[in-house]
Amino acid sequence: MPQVRLRDVEARAAGAADYAFIRELGRATVMSSVGTLRRTTHQLAVAAFDRLTEIVDAQSHVAFVAMAEGARIGFVLLLDELPDEVTLTAQGFIAYMAVTPERRGTGAGTALLEAAENEARRLGLPYMALMVTEENAVARRLYERSGYTTERRLLCKAL
Ligand SMILES: CC(C)(COP(=O)(O)OP(=O)(O)OC[C@H]1O[C@@H](n2cnc3c(N)ncnc32)[C@H](O)[C@@H]1OP(=O)(O)O)[C@@H](O)C(=O)NCCC(=O)NCCS
Repeated sequence: MPQVRLRDVEARAAGAADYAFIRELGRATVMSSVGTLRRTTHQLAVAAFDRLTEIVDAQSHVAFVAMAEGARIGFVLLLDELPDEVTLTAQGFIAYMAVTPERRGTGAGTALLEAAENEARRLGLPYMALMVTEENAVARRLYERSGYTTERRLLCKAL
């Protein structure tokens, strides 16, 4: 599996023990993806993350964990057999990524995204896609800086 180093950060393919870390950090950060439009609770958002990990587990995917000084500091979940629903073109899809709060802003997110993209290229996938919440400015900046542009919009209205 490919490895990416960005300063002291290394993204490596996840092993069985890494999935507990992924679940814990995903649960802890999931509110970053909840916008203000939908009324929900932390408990429901955590349940949604658990459901997401079950969906990912059941599908072909690759997980990378970012390591720094021997500690796990972030992860990315890449779905590699989920074609675009509108065009049916093959693509990689980032199901979720997160970095531990104390290690943000050190390039781990960038390294993880790069690891996922390299893996998708290695698998011959011509695109990478992901969904990001409009109000998640930090994540949007990361994706924009990495070359992502808006292809579609998810519209929602409170009734
Ligand atoms: C979004 C997220 C994954 C970004 O992770 P990160 O490790 O902080 O990302 P990076 O460090 O690569 O980039 C973040 C910032 O640090 C800066 N940076 C990158 N490497 C750096 C370095 N070596 N030294 C200093 N700053 C650096 C980047 O330029 C960027 O700054 P900017 O936002 O002002 O442009 C993280 O904020 C997170 O886990 N959020 C909660 C979960 C979430 O929202 N996930 C996305 C769901 S779609």
